[in-house]
Amino acid sequence: MSAKVLAIANQKGGVGKTTTALTLAAALGRRGMKVLVLDLDPHCCASVHVRLYPEEAHASVLDIFTSKDAISSDFWAQIIQRPDGLNFDMVPAKTQLSDLEADLKERKGKGSILRNAVASVRDRYDFILFDCPPHLGILLVNALVASDLLIIPIQTDFLAVHGLKLLVDTLKVLNKVLPKPLEFKALATMYDRRANACERVLRLLHNKMGPQVFSTVIGLDTKFREASGQGTVIYTVDQSSRGAKAYESLAEEIIALW
Ligand SMILES: Nc1ncnc2c1ncn2[C@@H]1O[C@H](COP(=O)(O)OP(=O)(O)O)[C@@H](O)[C@H]1O
Ligand SMILES: [Mg+2]
Repeated sequence: MSAKVLAIANQKGGVGKTTTALTLAAALGRRGMKVLVLDLDPHCCASVHVRLYPEEAHASVLDIFTSKDAISSDFWAQIIQRPDGLNFDMVPAKTQLSDLEADLKERKGKGSILRNAVASVRDRYDFILFDCPPHLGILLVNALVASDLLIIPIQTDFLAVHGLKLLVDTLKVLNKVLPKPLEFKALATMYDRRANACERVLRLLHNKMGPQVFSTVIGLDTKFREASGQGTVIYTVDQSSRGAKAYESLAEEIIALW
């Protein structure tokens, strides 16, 4: 077993990154996959969502970046946690992650810290998912360098598509310095079936990006908010909801990629 590593990122906030990371993890888990989620956002939304509160956590992804030693399999065993009632593992975030930029300033090879660390845990999982912060900095660079595929959730409204060019340009610049160019696939999220504008945006997305868009479209579903309010994922709230089914379909698409 050697895990496929997926970064879920977009410089825009509120587009469904965290929802995608957690729901996709659960959907892959339902297909028998072993999944590890790393919360790389200093806002700790994914961690709080699954009730791994940063102020109570004895370990976090920060330890990966501050450790003086190489990250061993035993080290991972100490920081990996299993959120209550869920079917995937997780390493929570910590607010102090936002100081990393300054703390790592002088560190050599600072962009590959996560990639090197992940090497010693890949054999224990089928998928490793990174919930990324919305700004381009040391954490996002580490996530992209360590990943096999970048998933870009895109909210289906006109402003979001406008922002897409910015993100793709960023990736082009990054790909020049990455050890191997990173593939990406966009995921249409929060699609409102009743809004004509949404349909036009979706068509635009498919026209512009062709196969680099997942066939699965994630529709609007209030059950997502219900799930986060209950500290769980949509499968616990309503496994036959549209949102639940959509992420199952995404999981199948992703499994079929390899
Ligand atoms: N498909 C969806 N339908 C309805 N609400 C959603 C959907 N996806 C996400 N949300 C809600 O939108 C908000 C922002 O989503 P989130 O995943 O936290 O975005 P990000 O991580 O990109 O900031 C959250 O309150 C979440 O519950
Ligand atoms: Mg988020």
